[in-house]
Formats: sequence, C-alpha cells, structure tokens
Amino acid sequence: MELPQARGALSATLSDALRDGTPDLSSVEPDDEEDLHLSLWMLYELHYRGFDGVDDAREWDPDLLTVRARLEGRFESDLRAACRPIVELADARGSVPDQLAAITAYDVGVSLPNFVQREASADQYLEFLAQRSLYHLKESDPAAWAVPRLEGPAKVALAELQYDEYGGGRPERLHSRLFAEAMEACRLDASYGAYVDRVPAYTLAVNNAMSLFGLHRRLRGAAMGHLAAFEMTSSLPCRRYLQGAERLGLGEPVGHYFDEHVEADAVHEHLAARGICGALVEAEPQLRPDVLFGAAACVHLDAVAAQQMLDAWADGRSALRVVRDREVA
Ligand SMILES: [Fe+2]
Ligand SMILES: [Fe+2]
Repeated sequence: MELPQARGALSATLSDALRDGTPDLSSVEPDDEEDLHLSLWMLYELHYRGFDGVDDAREWDPDLLTVRARLEGRFESDLRAACRPIVELADARGSVPDQLAAITAYDVGVSLPNFVQREASADQYLEFLAQRSLYHLKESDPAAWAVPRLEGPAKVALAELQYDEYGGGRPERLHSRLFAEAMEACRLDASYGAYVDRVPAYTLAVNNAMSLFGLHRRLRGAAMGHLAAFEMTSSLPCRRYLQGAERLGLGEPVGHYFDEHVEADAVHEHLAARGICGALVEAEPQLRPDVLFGAAACVHLDAVAAQQMLDAWADGRSALRVVRDREVA
C-alpha cells in the first residue's frame, strides 16, 4: 500500500519520516482530528501490512512509538470521556452478558442499516462499502492480537470465533476475502487500504480504536468488550444491508458477504458475550470496567460514523472525502 496523502502538519511530517527517517516529530502536533487519526492510523498500519517504500523495521522505531503514545493518550482519554454515559447504562450488579446487552441496546438516534436497507442509492451503498473496507479487508485482525494475552476458556472461545472469521480452514471463506469479492462485484478497488485517502476521520477512529485496544495488553478487556459489542450489533444490521443490496441489484457476492454474517454473527454474539467476555471477567475480575468501556467505544464510534454518513447524504454530499489525484512521480 502507498502512504496516504497528508491531512495536516503531523501526517505530512510523519510521511517524510517514514520515507527517509530524518524529520524530527517531537514537536509537531496534529492540526485537527483528521490529521490526528490519519497519523495514528499510519503508525498502527506499520503493525499490519506496512507501506511501500517504508522499511518494515520502522514498526519498532522508538521515535515513532513515542509519537504514537502521545496520540493514543489523547484519543483514549477523549474516548473514555465520551463513553462514560453509555457505560452507565449497564446495571452494576448485572452479569457481564447482561451489561453488554444494555450497552449495545443504547439508542444511537439514527439507523444507518435502516437507511441502507430502504433508501440508499447505489452510489451511497458503494460509499458505505468503501468506508467499511478499511476494516473488513483486515477483518478480525485487530482482535487477533489478544489471543496470546488470554488464557483458558476465554482464549478457547476467541480462537473459535477467529477460526470462523478466518475461513474455518478454507481460504475462499476468509471473511476479508468475501468482502473483497463483494467490492469487486461493485467495481470498487478491493486492494488493501485503497480507500484510506477517501475516508474521513470518523472511520479512521473506528479502526484506530480496535488497534489501540488490540495492541496494548493492558487494554485486553476493552479489546474483547469491543469485539463482543461488534458481534452483538452485527446480525440484524447485516440482514438490512443484505436487503439493501438485493433492492439495488448489487450482485450476489455483496449479498453473500452479509448473508454469511446474518448467520455467523448470531452465533458469534453469544460466543463473544459469554464465552469470551464472561469467562475473561471471571478469570480477571478487575477487567470488567474495561470490557464495558470497549463495548461502549464500539457503540459510540459506530454511532458517530453513522450520523456523519447520514448527515452527508441528507445534505446531498458524498460521505467520502474529495482528494486530489496522486502526482505521477
Ligand atoms: Fe466476519
Ligand atoms: Fe463475526
């Protein structure tokens, strides 16, 4: 993947630093949320697939890790503050699965799945797929970081869930591959990270939260709470996305991707809430608040993304960013 286009002072300096390693990042602050989340996303991406022309060894460059920690500190404290009212929906004496159910029942006020099912135009549906591609082309990878950090029943349940996400032993059933096939059926670019320049900060934030939780062992509770909320809020929306794709005649691979998730995530929801989070909190009770925080973060960031996408469409705008063509080197 190519390095993304800069969105401000920090992402510009970071791009230069990744290319040739010289610029000093210590005093450069992000211009805004776009600049912050793109920079953080770039730093995280070094742990996944990396960038063309950037040495893989930069993943553990101490200067880059210092910048990453600074951005993470800001993101995490903002996220914790925003999630507090959602976490409070959970009855403090309830079981972990009941608490997760209360959090995921949070009324976000808008429904992207309803809109996509009934009203979205074909172009809007493709914008939705392009935004989602940032995650679904590496579907389940951020949660995989947690595997060596869990033990016993929670680890077994996570491995079972991941086994499905990673195709159940069949490469042609990798969920990331099913999503790529859905994109190709719509003539979208299914190459990894192809739409990073087009997605706004809110979609980068959705992805950055998963990497933040996945890459820090101290946040393993939040990683698993996030996973549970994701699975618990997937099956019914996927049915609506499936119906939207059928209404628009988008092609069988699109339907297939969402149909797979109507079924699979109805199972994953229980596996994640009870098998993973319930067992994790039983083994490590001190992780309960972070499990709930992670779930609330999933709900909150998804709600922000849905609101912003729907607002753009309501105004007759694209939900994707307009970008200049890449210069030919
Ligand atoms: Fe999946
Ligand atoms: Fe799933």
